[in-house]
Amino acid sequence: MASQNEEAFLKAMAIISAGTVQRVLTTLCELKVFDIIMQKVGLHGYLSLDEIASNASSMLDRMLCLLASHSIVKWKLEKSTTSNDLLTRTYGLTQISKYYGQDQSGHFVAPFHLFSYHKQIQISWHSLKDTILEGGIPFNKAHEGLNIFEYLEKNKGNERGGGCRWWTWCNFKLYSMYPHLKGINFDLPHVVQNAPALPGVTQIGGDIFKSVPGGEAILLQRILHDWNNEDSVKILKKLNVTKLYHIQERW
Ligand SMILES: C[S@@+](CC[C@H](N)C(=O)[O-])C[C@H]1O[C@@H](n2cnc3c(N)ncnc32)[C@H](O)[C@@H]1O
Repeated sequence: MASQNEEAFLKAMAIISAGTVQRVLTTLCELKVFDIIMQKVGLHGYLSLDEIASNASSMLDRMLCLLASHSIVKWKLEKSTTSNDLLTRTYGLTQISKYYGQDQSGHFVAPFHLFSYHKQIQISWHSLKDTILEGGIPFNKAHEGLNIFEYLEKNKGNERGGGCRWWTWCNFKLYSMYPHLKGINFDLPHVVQNAPALPGVTQIGGDIFKSVPGGEAILLQRILHDWNNEDSVKILKKLNVTKLYHIQERW
């Protein structure tokens, strides 16, 4: 059994390489590998590297192996299609990567992942130390004072928002379970302009600091984490409801 010291050392090493998994996932999302597996063989089948992409680099094999070691994909050996004597590794989706592949219910985790690991988001982390020392907000420091929403509005067309699609998926689930519900998707005007139409959902654009449409219940999902305490209080004061549900995801 590994000593406590060895275990701690291995954990420290694992922390250093944790970023590799995220970056490999980003690349596979960009290459649409999970979509290809989902669309060709679904959740239960397996594909060889050649079936995923002809002339795929052997690096793709190594990347999939890394993800297999984290149970993000599964693998098994199968007879090669080119030679009976050879065994070849084939890969399939797991309960984790099924969320990365596009199916009929939409495609939400991959865009959200790509958004989270987008160069312009990642660059903010390099301003974190200066933020601790000088104050301010890392994203704004790295983007000439613009906050993330101002930046996205200025660069709309170049950037793809993940949040909106995540919301779409939540709506999709909510309304497929409770089709009698009627709801409003409230967001900035340029965001709702591009939001996909959904049954039972009215899209309303506005500014949460000015006024928010009322309702029997308001679902604040992933909103307050974007703002400091002072702004969060301003937002809460604009909500005209008797019941407020703050959804805290478990991640
Ligand atoms: C983290 S996202 C959450 C979106 C959605 N609830 C979800 O789960 O995907 C935060 C949202 O707040 C919107 N937002 C930012 N500033 C706003 C404002 N002043 N008024 C209204 N919405 C705003 C952004 O456009 C963004 O879509």
